Amino acid sequence: MSQTKDWCFVLCKLVVCVAVVALVACSTSSPATGSDASTEGAGSLKSLPRVATGDAPGASPKALAMNKRLGRGINLGNVYEAPINGAWGLSFQKTPELTKVAKNLGFAHVRMPVRWSNHAMVRPPFTINPAFMAQVKSSVDGFIAQGQIVVLNVHHYRQLDGDTLDNGEAAVPSELVDVRFVMLWQQIAQAFKDYSNDQLVFELYNEPHGRMQTGQTPSGNSDAWNNLMAHAMAQVRATNPERIVIVGPTHWNNAYWLDQLRLPNDPHMIVTVHQYEPFNFTHQGSEWVSPRKPTGQTCCSDSQKRQIIGILNKAQTWSQKHKYPIYVGEFGAYAHNNHSEEVTTQRVNFNAFMREEMERRDMSWAYWELASGFGIYDLAAGKTREPLWRSLIPAQ
Ligand code: BGC
Repeated sequence: MSQTKDWCFVLCKLVVCVAVVALVACSTSSPATGSDASTEGAGSLKSLPRVATGDAPGASPKALAMNKRLGRGINLGNVYEAPINGAWGLSFQKTPELTKVAKNLGFAHVRMPVRWSNHAMVRPPFTINPAFMAQVKSSVDGFIAQGQIVVLNVHHYRQLDGDTLDNGEAAVPSELVDVRFVMLWQQIAQAFKDYSNDQLVFELYNEPHGRMQTGQTPSGNSDAWNNLMAHAMAQVRATNPERIVIVGPTHWNNAYWLDQLRLPNDPHMIVTVHQYEPFNFTHQGSEWVSPRKPTGQTCCSDSQKRQIIGILNKAQTWSQKHKYPIYVGEFGAYAHNNHSEEVTTQRVNFNAFMREEMERRDMSWAYWELASGFGIYDLAAGKTREPLWRSLIPAQ
């Protein structure tokens, strides 16, 4: 599908109380590699609670208000989503500087993509490394302290989607992959339960695909993701009854699969899509797409604009029908290490067109991303890339 963020080409890219009791009991055991506990007794997904779906009531006034407040945001990409600290160019140690930048550049919120899956035991009780949890918390606290809202997600759990592991990732026994996802949410929800609902939002999973869906066309289904989402939501609601939770469709949060999304019957929700079309333009020269897309692509011709508008209209129509607001959690164009005026102008065109069209439809958004390959900030030089930034946050 041309409108798909076509990752077919991407190379790299208990019963509850038993688990909870075990979790507390084992919280000091070694992270990442996990204990040698038998997988028996870990419970299957079926033994975990799930929330009801199929009769979603539409968004609450609180969810609608939150989507307005999210407004314009930025992704803190390549930091907590890397397989190990620093592997993708930005280390945890850089977050205080990046936190200040995100505020100074005027973003209402920050989306924090976090690869919890590589910082938790691979076997029950799947304990998240306490040092990693403390590090993530300190970043969340930093953004909140300066008045920004944080969207905290689970990002990149390679085995959940059936993808190849990244370098430095530990393998999870296949029968535990899904249960582990749910139990990661049990811990994240518990850890952040006392944060204000006005300052912190959860997003259940970035870009479900592969194992989470069946078929590459709308004749397939998203049952695996819908089911897993309902289980994760049960864990979140046990400790965070009114927190706003964001979920999106399969096929990498593609708007054309919104019709397969079975939302929990819950009003405190926002629905997300990602928008990287025209993909040949936004991902030209990207090292993680194979075969590599040729550079020299421009944006935005009339047909490229029609493609973008088609996707946003699809999301808008779904939103009007189902009464949940839309958050475009990722869009952006890769610089392929070329910051010439010529290339920048095309990226500015894309950003400005996207911003206008999203805002015309009352969608909140987060640009992908702050200070890496798509970045509006040059960390090495300590400088904002002004035209790119202004394409997102125009001068008043
Ligand atoms: C991925 C990033 C990638 C970006 C653009 C995100 O969802 O997490 O690794 O750079 O999409 O392709």
